[in-house]
Amino acid sequence: MTVHDDRLGRFIADIEDRVGPLLPPIEAALRAVPRALFIPDVALASPGCRDEAYVIDRGSDPDAWWEAVNTATDPIITQIDDGTRGFDSDGAYTSSNSAPDTVAELLELLSTKPGHRVLEVGTGTGWTAALLSHMVGAERVTSVEIDAAISERAAKNVSVAGYEPHLVVGDGATGYPDGAPYDRVHVTCSVYRVPYTWVEQCRPGGLIVAPFETGVGCGRAIRLVVSADGTAVGRFRGSASYMPIRAQRVEYPPEPDVEPARHSTRVDPRTIAEAPPGAALTIAALTGLHVSAEQDDDLVRVWVLNPDRGDERAMTVWDPDPGQWPVFQIGDRPVWDEVTDAYFRWVSWGEPGRDRYGMTVTPDGQSIWLDRPDNVLRRAGT
Ligand SMILES: C[S@@+](CC[C@H](N)C(=O)[O-])C[C@H]1O[C@@H](n2cnc3c(N)ncnc32)[C@H](O)[C@@H]1O
Repeated sequence: MTVHDDRLGRFIADIEDRVGPLLPPIEAALRAVPRALFIPDVALASPGCRDEAYVIDRGSDPDAWWEAVNTATDPIITQIDDGTRGFDSDGAYTSSNSAPDTVAELLELLSTKPGHRVLEVGTGTGWTAALLSHMVGAERVTSVEIDAAISERAAKNVSVAGYEPHLVVGDGATGYPDGAPYDRVHVTCSVYRVPYTWVEQCRPGGLIVAPFETGVGCGRAIRLVVSADGTAVGRFRGSASYMPIRAQRVEYPPEPDVEPARHSTRVDPRTIAEAPPGAALTIAALTGLHVSAEQDDDLVRVWVLNPDRGDERAMTVWDPDPGQWPVFQIGDRPVWDEVTDAYFRWVSWGEPGRDRYGMTVTPDGQSIWLDRPDNVLRRAGT
């Protein structure tokens, strides 16, 4: 056995440790399309909550570079702040080669068959587009990337790997109508609203798999089956933390020039910061609000924002003093209280887990449901 075979064998085994036995076509694709061909010489390895991200440089430390490339659980960040900042800055991650175990898990959900026509949204390094090309034939894969420079690098990568999928520079939120209808739509950036265009461009019986992020709680995937009546219905599955699709980046606009109203909460902010997936989905469904959290030394800050109205938001902070914590609210909407009410409704339902939740997407929008599509969770008054 060569060193290369040994590394690849361990890589596949590590992925299977995390996601279970791989379907044969996915294992074959992972064996045929080496991740290393898609990783730039200098990038940022991101071990998530295990450790701090660190720069890898193939020239100065090839062992560390290979170690990161062969780590099944870690994404490798390839761009910061849309390319305006370097890897030594602490800007937002805007492109990456996703964690191999998550890539495999999403491909399992996608269940492609040879001959399927696939639309990928978010080409990134091109690795997924090449894996899909191996599985269904490159001439049937279209991959859309919003950043022209990233798409150009991906084109080089896929070509070195020996594939020629159709790479398009554009906004994948609008799909790519020229190639429709697709059997599968595979999204590799996260959404909190599923664009209806993906449903329109997928044939009846086809599948859409997309990472779904609500802010707090791990991301998860939504797997939707498209119907002939133009709706798509499916459940939340697996875990998938991805950077957001560009139009759904939740950015906090500058604070309006008003003093925030101050009250206090007896709900420990960490309860919301660490909300399990079912609670996070309930909060998203019942409030439509985006919740994010950050730990900073001894403090945990939690922000709540109406993504459609920057003037409706609140921030609270946990500190070690027990009992109550301050809430700073902007706008009249009591967004923190809405979030905690939704959390306690989830508790009162017996804390259902992620797999009991699903979503329906229609031309009028999306709705999240519990157990059955007719048990839709709605915001009070809607
Ligand atoms: C996690 S990376 C994708 C990883 C990729 N599938 C791979 O195999 O390397 C997410 C990508 O989505 C891209 N992206 C973000 N918004 C997009 C949009 N509206 N349309 C197309 N691509 C988008 C980002 O530029 C980024 O390259």
